[in-house]
Amino acid sequence: MLAYSCYQESAQYLRSRLEGLVPRALLILGSGLGFLGEQVEQARIIPYGEIPHFGLATAPGHESRLVCGLLWGVPVAVMQGRLHYYEGHTPEDIVYPLRVVRLLGAEYLVVTNAAGAINREFSVGDLMVISDHIRMMGDSPLRGPNLPQFGERFCDMSQVYDSDLQALALEKGRELGLSMQSGVYFYFPGPQFETPAEIRAARVWGGDAAGMSTVYEATAANHCGMRTLGLSLMTNMAAGVLNQPLSGAEVNVAAEKAQNNFTALIRAVLPELKKEERC
Ligand code: HPA
Repeated sequence: MLAYSCYQESAQYLRSRLEGLVPRALLILGSGLGFLGEQVEQARIIPYGEIPHFGLATAPGHESRLVCGLLWGVPVAVMQGRLHYYEGHTPEDIVYPLRVVRLLGAEYLVVTNAAGAINREFSVGDLMVISDHIRMMGDSPLRGPNLPQFGERFCDMSQVYDSDLQALALEKGRELGLSMQSGVYFYFPGPQFETPAEIRAARVWGGDAAGMSTVYEATAANHCGMRTLGLSLMTNMAAGVLNQPLSGAEVNVAAEKAQNNFTALIRAVLPELKKEERC
């Protein structure tokens, strides 16, 4: 269990590297989507290994660096490389960078991921605005002694994904002519893809897309009062939807193809994230 003083130490270190930049939004980018970090201007690039207490991302396609600067004029911190449970990181470690960036002043979380479509009406390449999530497996990142500096012990989860941000993303995506969906993200811990039976069960339980990330970060963001926008790219139909095996390569190819759509959507949404009073 990391003490609050660790978070403060990491935040203090980052402040010393940021030359006064206060990120308004934290962007956590999923597999094959880290390229947005390259678009950051006046970038301060800080390898995770240099930041006290940060873990390292090991998943393919995930670098381990925090890129801070201006993205289309908005001060941001971009996590190039997120930490996953399946890499062996604890839920607490996974949300550590988010909590540190919150201490730096970030008010928004924009979290993206690659996901498999459970909903048969979805197609590969669709972008799903996450309306809610289901996490039946994997510990909560809030397990263990509560850190009241971040939030309450029993935090409300009735709107983890901000409804105004959902509406904004859907509107902007449709204006751009993107194939937009809205739905429930069903978390699986991975790293193996799901079995067809697991996907059928997830569908009955209300899941629209299956993925191996996001819920930890969104839960911690909710706990510490950040407004979250979650976006899932359908890189494949989930196991058993089509009569064919799944592969990590397929996910990466689809993620690469969607780069322009993703960029356009985030470019349209980001400047609308206005500075607010800190809660
Ligand atoms: N399942 C879980 N995670 C994923 C998938 C999937 O089908 N596709 C991309 N990430």
